[in-house]
Amino acid sequence: MNAKQAAAYKAVAHIKNGMIVGLGTGSTAFWAIQYLAEKVQQGLRITAIATSAETEKIARECGIAVAELDTVDHIDIDIDGADELDGEMNLIKGGGGALLREKIVAAASREFIVIADDSKRVEILGKFPLPVEIVSFGWRHTAAKLVALGCHTSLRQRDAKTFITDNGNYILDCHFSSIPDPSALEQQINNIPGVVESGLFVKMAGRVIVGYSDGTAKEFS
Ligand code: 5RP
Repeated sequence: MNAKQAAAYKAVAHIKNGMIVGLGTGSTAFWAIQYLAEKVQQGLRITAIATSAETEKIARECGIAVAELDTVDHIDIDIDGADELDGEMNLIKGGGGALLREKIVAAASREFIVIADDSKRVEILGKFPLPVEIVSFGWRHTAAKLVALGCHTSLRQRDAKTFITDNGNYILDCHFSSIPDPSALEQQINNIPGVVESGLFVKMAGRVIVGYSDGTAKEFS
């Protein structure tokens, strides 16, 4: 069992019969989906809410029932990965481009469990470029306002084309190198017209599970 698998396995142990479960996006969340699918095959009953089209496809393919977020009034537990994680359980997310739905699902959840391998832990967020989802209209002007906050930006590409999110938007990867006050930066970014959401998840995680290369995992809450 590798570090990502170890974190995912421990998180899935929190899922009980009848729960509504948020399913994250990315290579760590992938393992949580696999372990949940095994439990579903053994008789666990859950309803899943996916944070991306990709996750919905993976979940359905392995036999997990997926519902639309608006058909439920809450989510019991959301399990998702992170690109960076500081000692206050603040996160950078969005490396996989799913940050908007990931944040909506996390905000609708009674408990948000973050799963990550040990390499994601940092003292101060910001080495990983902060993904910011923006509307395509006037995107260069939105980018200029982000640059004024002290970063340089790159418009995310995939397969030599501009990356388009599940919501039809662009992503600007914002290179700050250091984010000493994630809460203040999140507010400044959200005040820029054209910004849909940032990948800063401030004080949203209720529990963090870190996996290690020896196959063990530790919980922090
Ligand atoms: C996707 C995300 C992922 O949770 C994040 O990129 C971590 O991915 P991985 O588990 O593959 O390292 O935010 O938008």
